[in-house]
Amino acid sequence: MSSPIKISPSILSADFSKLGEEILSLEKAGADYIHIDVMDGHFVPNITIGPEVIKRLRPLTKKIFDVHLMISNVDNFIKDFANAGSDIITFHPEATDDIKKTIKKIKDNGKKVGISLKPNSSIDLIQDYYNEIDLILIMSVEPGFGGQKFMPEVLDKLRKIKKIINEKKLNIDIEIDGGINFNNSKQVKEAGANILVSGSTIFKENGGNLKKNIGLLRSN
Ligand code: DX5
Ligand code: ZN
Repeated sequence: MSSPIKISPSILSADFSKLGEEILSLEKAGADYIHIDVMDGHFVPNITIGPEVIKRLRPLTKKIFDVHLMISNVDNFIKDFANAGSDIITFHPEATDDIKKTIKKIKDNGKKVGISLKPNSSIDLIQDYYNEIDLILIMSVEPGFGGQKFMPEVLDKLRKIKKIINEKKLNIDIEIDGGINFNNSKQVKEAGANILVSGSTIFKENGGNLKKNIGLLRSN
């Protein structure tokens, strides 16, 4: 059973001097989710935004905040990101010493749980958690920056995970994140992704025509 394709624009590529307006433009342009990349300069070599910014953005839109935590010691911050208005909280297994505990913490805060795998992170890391999570985020670039080149070697991992989810008859969203563009969007959907994250393609292609770019990623 294939879930409808959703587009989750990453605001990492947005104009940080006017994030509120950018979020409203994305909503108007037909975004399904808003992908919010949180980086701490430790888990990844870049620093972006924290819960305070999410709290300010929350009242502007009802759109799902798809929060991608690229931070270490993630357990220490889950409550803050939940209270700030995240809807889906996705973490990297390497950022906790107890994946089960982190999943429980996110659920105890009433949020949906995502686990993200970096290109070189094995699918073995999530083999015990399929029944407890709502979303698997497969990174097709090394985490830390937008505008990088798509890594086709992750397609194999994507197909394997899709197969496992189908065999277990689970309803888990598979999100692909990194270097998604008009040339690979069809391929990643065929491989099993039903949520496409995109930053630079959506904000930069076709003169930054958000509606056109979101539409093309969805329909290509
Ligand atoms: C990278 C982030 C991605 C990135 C996607 O660490 O997790 O969400 O912003 O940006 P593009 O689509 O430009 O690769
Ligand atoms: Zn991301």
